[in-house]
Amino acid sequence: MAPFVRRFMRASLVWLGVGVLLGFGIAVWPAGLMAIRPAHVHATLLGFVTMMIFGVAYHVIPRFTGAALHSPVLAEAHVWVANLGLVLMVGGWILRAVVGAAGTPALHAGATLSVLSAGLFIYNIWRTLDAAPAPVGRGGRVWKAQPGVPQSGSGA
Ligand code: HEM
Ligand code: HEM
Repeated sequence: MAPFVRRFMRASLVWLGVGVLLGFGIAVWPAGLMAIRPAHVHATLLGFVTMMIFGVAYHVIPRFTGAALHSPVLAEAHVWVANLGLVLMVGGWILRAVVGAAGTPALHAGATLSVLSAGLFIYNIWRTLDAAPAPVGRGGRVWKAQPGVPQSGSGA
């Protein structure tokens, strides 16, 4: 397992912990904490769900397709961009709820990094799919692998 896969999965688990604690806080004290609902939503959805998907996808897609991940270096960078971005976004939302507009710059910086994070994933997986060998068969119409027929360099 590549280090960035493990890091995304661990980050996802940490975000699950953060997200459910925030959700618990809102559940028990809605009058005081409802303003941090977006922090809870993004800790769980952009943190837990999306980062688990990033980690699993980086591991599984190259194995499904038979194409090496386009850039492990970008995937490693992605871990840090995604997590710094989400820390700033979640922190920014909480700050905005607590001290008002002072949280806005952090929220905006976090949102920018989170968009960049999505872009890194889209680019890396897109380029990986570009390199995926087409299945080789008679006239390119037989999708099952044929014994003895190479899977790459297809003329199909
Ligand atoms: C211990 C676990 C959790 C607790 C106690 C909890 C609690 C809450 C509470 C109190 C709200 C606000 C509800 C309202 O607006 O009245 C909320 C909203 C929300 N939660 Fe959670 N939550 C938990 C886990 C999760 C998880 C795991 C996810 C996603 C994977 C999630 C996604 C959401 C979303 C998307 C909303 C916003 C719903 C909307 O837009 O109306 N929550 N949660
Ligand atoms: C670059 C990444 C993202 C940014 C900058 C972003 C930003 C925002 C903002 C500004 C809001 C409105 C918050 C408010 O009510 O004040 C919002 C709401 C929401 N976002 Fe995102 N978002 C991002 C990614 C995502 C992703 C990936 C998901 C789901 C997988 C998601 C799910 C939601 C949901 C469910 C709400 C409604 C929350 C609620 O009902 O309180 N967002 N988002």
